[in-house]
Amino acid sequence: MTLIEWQDEFKIGIDEVDFEHQELIGLINDSYLEAKKEDSIMAVMDFLGEIFERISAHFALEEKVMKELDYDQFEDHKEDHERLLDSIRDIMDECMDVPALDEEKFGQHLKEWFSRHFSTKDARMHHFLHH
Ligand SMILES: [Fe+2]
Ligand SMILES: [Fe+2]
Repeated sequence: MTLIEWQDEFKIGIDEVDFEHQELIGLINDSYLEAKKEDSIMAVMDFLGEIFERISAHFALEEKVMKELDYDQFEDHKEDHERLLDSIRDIMDECMDVPALDEEKFGQHLKEWFSRHFSTKDARMHHFLHH
């Protein structure tokens, strides 16, 4: 089962950003599938490392776009990005600590981590751009 189904609401209306949103969801879904396999902790850690790198680059892109557009909630959005980077570090630490990965918990954690930002901060940026 796919963890996060792609939805058009995940688009903010800037091709580069939307493309990355799609890629990130793909990576998150793949890491969840990996987590369901036996003894996959090292592979999952690799995925998380990759997600961390890509998400950092993605946030940098969004922040650049927001600056260019003179986005009114730039600071607030950027703070949320920083919080998300911290929490993915926490997810990585947690994975290293537990003797066996609880893949459902792991999946839920990732899903919430990602969707919450999407449906609040990125969605607001979408409205700002289109109204
Ligand atoms: Fe985003
Ligand atoms: Fe964002």
